[in-house]
Amino acid sequence: MVIPYRTRHPLPTQADVSKVTAPPTKPLRVAVIGTGFGAAVHIPALQFIEETEVVAVCSRRAERAKAVAARHGIPTAATDFRDLVRDPDIDAVVIATPPYLHHQMAIAALEARKHVLCEKPMARNLAETRDMVKLAETAGVVAMINHEFRYLPIRARVKELIDEGYLGVPQSASLIVYRSSLADPNERPFGWLMEHDKAGGMLLASGSHHIDALRWWLGEIHAVAGTTATMVKKRRLADSSGMATVDADDNFAFLLRFASGAIATVHVCATAPTDAGEQITLSGTEGMLIVEGDGVLYGGRRRDVDLRELPIPERLEVELPEFPHFLTRPTIQLLRDWVRAIREGAGATFAPSFADGAKVQEVIDAVVRSGAQGRWIDTSGSRWPLSSAV
Ligand SMILES: NC(=O)c1ccc[n+]([C@@H]2O[C@H](COP(=O)([O-])OP(=O)(O)OC[C@H]3O[C@@H](n4cnc5c(N)ncnc54)[C@H](OP(=O)(O)O)[C@@H]3O)[C@@H](O)[C@H]2O)c1
Repeated sequence: MVIPYRTRHPLPTQADVSKVTAPPTKPLRVAVIGTGFGAAVHIPALQFIEETEVVAVCSRRAERAKAVAARHGIPTAATDFRDLVRDPDIDAVVIATPPYLHHQMAIAALEARKHVLCEKPMARNLAETRDMVKLAETAGVVAMINHEFRYLPIRARVKELIDEGYLGVPQSASLIVYRSSLADPNERPFGWLMEHDKAGGMLLASGSHHIDALRWWLGEIHAVAGTTATMVKKRRLADSSGMATVDADDNFAFLLRFASGAIATVHVCATAPTDAGEQITLSGTEGMLIVEGDGVLYGGRRRDVDLRELPIPERLEVELPEFPHFLTRPTIQLLRDWVRAIREGAGATFAPSFADGAKVQEVIDAVVRSGAQGRWIDTSGSRWPLSSAV
């Protein structure tokens, strides 16, 4: 089903895309690298879509790769992603491994001229994302980042309302999250998310989604100030043999100044004693929008006495079955746009490009630098060619 979204976001450069487009009658043959979110969300999403076929899955542990392949009826189980990117019978890869591996995996896939859908955060730092953008542009393939929250109907509605002028001139936004997911050092075991070297930390993991959302709604970000903190400093090893030291953040806060002059604050605490959820508020000269969790949208215009609940139009509620993971549905929509871009070369889509991922990464790097240096960081200049940047 075609998603009836309007878009103002062009795709990455697609000039050469026809050179590597799979035959239109055959499904796109996709390999999924990573069997965490990859198995929970990407494989069911790709198997739901008629235009794609999951032909291989990859995990470091052979038994894990084999088990996932058997469970989902996937013909190939691999332990080395290089075998998959070299395979001429594979058209595209989904990279759903820890973020410190995204750069090397994406570069290998792009060099082999495979289409890529890479999980967020795009990479470890801006330098890595630059490489990835440049190579994607010259490889003539379609490369996207899985910021699938854009496809939640409530988020898409916010985008429409802002573009239609509901807020008037946007002035201020806040995005506040209090969750308990990392509060207990004995609950979620130590892993890459707690390791700085592996590009763990909540700023990269969830901050990337928040920056993407605010930039998508409010435009380019020209200045950043912020800080990160690690509140839970030791965490149980997976085998419970001891405690490991955590050096990635579990709390962060930052300020953004947009090109338009609007300002925003983002505050995330993943170590709260209980879950208070997420609230996003956007305010402008004429109106105000509040997103409660991912569920309810409230709005109010100038001179309204109260905020009221705003309906989400049915046309934004794409008909899809329920899946065990709530992010499978928006991922299906993003994957459909990815496939449409591969098949048709462009088309109406607001799927996040590699250039979007790189701009998000620039802001993340700026938060870290701001915290270390105690000053605002200017992100206004494109200090490198990004022809596909929005
Ligand atoms: N878009 C979203 O909303 C969303 C949500 C959650 C996660 N994510 C992203 O998805 C990515 C993966 O996160 P996760 O939660 O799935 O992590 P995870 O549960 O730790 O799974 C990581 C997977 O990567 C595999 N892997 C690690 N090193 C590998 C290598 N060298 N070659 C092949 N496979 C390797 C692991 O295999 P072994 O287990 O065999 O080592 C495992 O299957 C991250 O970038 C994360 O930010 C995105």
